Amino acid sequence: MGRKMTAPEIRGMKERGEKIVCLTAYDYCFARILDEAGIDLLLVGDSLGSVVQGHESTLPVTVEDIIYHTRAVIRGRRRALVVSDMPFMTFQLGVDEAKRNAGRLVQEGGAEAVKLEGGLTQAAAIEALVKMGVPVMGHVGLTPQSVHQFGGYRIQGRGEADARAIFEDAVAVEESGAFAIVLEGIPVQLAREITQRLTIPTIGIGAGMHCDGQILVVHDMLGLFDDFTPKFVKRYADLKETIGGAVRSYMDEVRTAAFPAEEHAFH
Ligand code: KIV
Repeated sequence: MGRKMTAPEIRGMKERGEKIVCLTAYDYCFARILDEAGIDLLLVGDSLGSVVQGHESTLPVTVEDIIYHTRAVIRGRRRALVVSDMPFMTFQLGVDEAKRNAGRLVQEGGAEAVKLEGGLTQAAAIEALVKMGVPVMGHVGLTPQSVHQFGGYRIQGRGEADARAIFEDAVAVEESGAFAIVLEGIPVQLAREITQRLTIPTIGIGAGMHCDGQILVVHDMLGLFDDFTPKFVKRYADLKETIGGAVRSYMDEVRTAAFPAEEHAFH
């Protein structure tokens, strides 16, 4: 199986110069497949709002949704670190609320770490969670819970002032005690500078090749979800087509009475 991944192990990978490979997972079956393949970190992301629930954004996702999906993922993984996302409205209302909800993700869901969006504004929450023994992953740049403020899913940090703000956010996340940070939707050069400045690993999504690790939404990289495909996604499979083909074969065989055959029958 290899060594069990933990928050300190993930941190140590940066020191050893090993790339950290992460994917999202939302259920038992996927968690098992990804874990057996050797993924280092599974994120129960609030992206489940889009790819599992069919919403247009992550904003409707609740802490109960993440607990439910975390429980399923935990049962399917043996080695990967399982990180659960803190949905919108579960940490923005104050440190006590953040502690209560992170505690629920750990106690009821089985999460081994949590992720929350925001930099300087969330420094107190990150610090408080780390103090109560919950490893925290930060998330800065194009943070999807702020989609309305950004006016859409747009690359962040293109201008000098914006880039400086994101850099300072990333530094604040590290100084608050996070063990890793997601950099989403920012220019490659900014991601490189942040990665060089921080001692904690940077996990990129739409942030170029210089990050210490990468994460993708599993439905995007497997070609299961095509409502929209961001430029930074690489498709490693076309499972929507594969599944559609299998279902069409099944329909043909049922309609022509080719399935079930003799070997599928009980006597
Ligand atoms: O919700 C999510 O899946 C995420 C990752 C894409 C980083 O936040």
